[in-house]
Amino acid sequence: MRDFNEKNITDAVIDRFKNTPDPRLKTIMTSLVRHLHDFVRDVDLTIDEWNFAINYLTRTGHMCDDKRQEFILLSDTLGISMLVDAINHRMPEGATQTTVLGPFYVDNPPEFPLGFDVSRGLKGEKLYVEGTVSSATGGPLPGAVIDVWQSDTDGYYDVQRSDLDQPTLRGRIRADDRGRFYFWSILPSPYPIPYDGPVGQMIQATARHPWRPAHLHFMISAKGHEKLVTHVFVQGDKYLDSDAVFGVKNSLIGNYTHEQPGVAPDGTKMGGPWRKLKYDFGLKPLG
Ligand code: BEZ
Ligand code: FE
Repeated sequence: MRDFNEKNITDAVIDRFKNTPDPRLKTIMTSLVRHLHDFVRDVDLTIDEWNFAINYLTRTGHMCDDKRQEFILLSDTLGISMLVDAINHRMPEGATQTTVLGPFYVDNPPEFPLGFDVSRGLKGEKLYVEGTVSSATGGPLPGAVIDVWQSDTDGYYDVQRSDLDQPTLRGRIRADDRGRFYFWSILPSPYPIPYDGPVGQMIQATARHPWRPAHLHFMISAKGHEKLVTHVFVQGDKYLDSDAVFGVKNSLIGNYTHEQPGVAPDGTKMGGPWRKLKYDFGLKPLG
């Protein structure tokens, strides 16, 4: 076939995939071509805009290395990450909802005992975090592995700072024999997603902002259950309704209560005001 035009080229391209042996790949390629072609027709894409798009994606790729993943950031800021997350995590009653992983998770963080202070002396409002890990079908999950990570008071993760000589505001704890956990930290702060690259350019050109509401990250694993990747956001944060990556869900907003000087639940004597978060997690059974 020859003489392709703006009307018949889509079916011709799709036809070229007709012998794809893997049926899933065939479905994906067919739908991708149809949607991309419809998009190009819908906006009447100019040659300059096509050139810009090629250059934009090239720069996005060049920005990626083992520390920076600009394509995932693009996916996050276009709401694709949360859409894929929603499709793949239709949670049953009793299971905690999921949200994006983000770029600041570090594999195999250092283990710390219950009650440890992950802030390791960094300045900030003292925060006591406690909760439980249970199966969505009921019953505690003793020994559940809980990875936590968060921003500091200035909105930076440890991996963004060059002045720290050990993992800070991150680590791994194990729930006790009744599925309970508790640790000390400091209140996380809102922060802008990295915006010094193509994603930042898109955010600026479209008059958006790059901020995420303050949150603690949790990744929780337990035998026989789906791994849970989620956040607990700080109630009252001014960015809860405009998160740059669309990650906020009502059920993930935690009450970080204001506490008076006195004795904390683990017996620590607090000479000044502090904050407390209690959050109970539910994991979805496998299968
Ligand atoms: C984060 O919460 O760490 C994050 C998530 C998506 C993009 C940037 C940061
Ligand atoms: Fe984060």
